[in-house]
Amino acid sequence: MPIELLTLKNLAAFRRFSEAAWDRPKSEAYYRWRYFDAPGLITVMANQGDQCVASISAFSRTYCNGDETAECLEPFDWYCLPATRGSGVGVRLLKTLMDTGRPLLTLGGSAETLRIIPRLGWKTVGEATEFFLPLTGNYLLRNRALPDYWKRVLTPSLDLATATWFTPARPNGVRNCVVLPVSGMDHDLARIDGPAGFRSVPDPRFFEWLMKGSPATGSYLLIVLTVDGEAAAWITGRLHRSRGLLHGTVLDLRLKRNDEKLAKNAIRHMARALAGFGADEVRAVATADFYSSVYRKSGFLAAREKIPVLVWAGRHRLSTDHIYLTGTADGAIFPLQDSLQYRETRREPLQQTRRLCSRANITASPGRDFLD
Ligand SMILES: CC(C)(COP(=O)(O)OP(=O)(O)OC[C@H]1O[C@@H](n2cnc3c(N)ncnc32)[C@H](O)[C@@H]1OP(=O)(O)O)[C@@H](O)C(=O)NCCC(=O)NCCS
Repeated sequence: MPIELLTLKNLAAFRRFSEAAWDRPKSEAYYRWRYFDAPGLITVMANQGDQCVASISAFSRTYCNGDETAECLEPFDWYCLPATRGSGVGVRLLKTLMDTGRPLLTLGGSAETLRIIPRLGWKTVGEATEFFLPLTGNYLLRNRALPDYWKRVLTPSLDLATATWFTPARPNGVRNCVVLPVSGMDHDLARIDGPAGFRSVPDPRFFEWLMKGSPATGSYLLIVLTVDGEAAAWITGRLHRSRGLLHGTVLDLRLKRNDEKLAKNAIRHMARALAGFGADEVRAVATADFYSSVYRKSGFLAAREKIPVLVWAGRHRLSTDHIYLTGTADGAIFPLQDSLQYRETRREPLQQTRRLCSRANITASPGRDFLD
């Protein structure tokens, strides 16, 4: 079964495979954005005759720790059509990535993934905790099979309860801190890449790619915190609609120094901004104790089930004692919005950011490059 890189030449076969595998947008624009415009993305596919039967994608990203750097791959979208499963083709695809000699990193995976990859030499080097902040009654009732009447009766009091208990805490404690929502990341900002530990090097092209994205992925927000006039931290977030709820996610938070007050401020500002957009919940994933503690202190609840951090280091020696993995890879684009949402609506109106940020109590300073 030949294995090849996805290019414009074999795109037609790949599109047939993708449409059989996933409920995703089918437009040219989506395929161009998702597979060809994404910085550092590779997609490998396995063919049977002129049919593609399996594929895997990976973001290529530089990781660093002190002076050490490593070009790593973050695999995702590993999928074989059901008729081909168990034939060894899935493992061959993953091995194609492993044979590049680059280390591979991932956060959790399906039951099959967690069963298969330890046998291929992958190691669990840590665990991630998922944090969430419920913001509405709608969110609390999401898994309850209640008649609509009861939902209508219960939602207002649950809205009140979430507003009392879980309203994102007011940011405080950092002197001379100004908070700015900005429309793009530049190289100066990307140099703010803390905390210390094994982490990816921020790439402004990645955020630019997200901002240009398809309506299927939702909307993105970047907030910068300056202290005494100098950028000291930045935080990115996402809003997407899925299963009738508006989900807010904190994607990445980077700090000039490991300053707990600054981290708390950034998280609270982002949570308030996402709440201002009407999010039913705010989610975040933390692999480092420093961040777990900051989310807890910002009122987030921790999910009980942990997510393993899995690494295949190959011949590399990676110092992964303090590993910092975030939702910046496929976690930044998945899950997609409900298909009805992306067919029928345009992107969330980020142009209204100034108004929404002011509702969310973010100081918007004039003269900066605002989203509107
Ligand atoms: C996960 C998935 C991509 C794996 O693909 P697959 O083609 O079914 O897997 P393979 O046939 O290559 O490998 C399966 C078996 O062969 C074994 N195997 C094959 N080659 C191997 C090798 N070189 N070394 C060790 N084990 C090997 C695997 O360990 C596994 O063992 P099993 O017989 O006990 O099941 C596929 O099952 C799938 O599409 N699942 C649904 C989507 C999904 O869960 N994707 C992962 C998202 S994180």
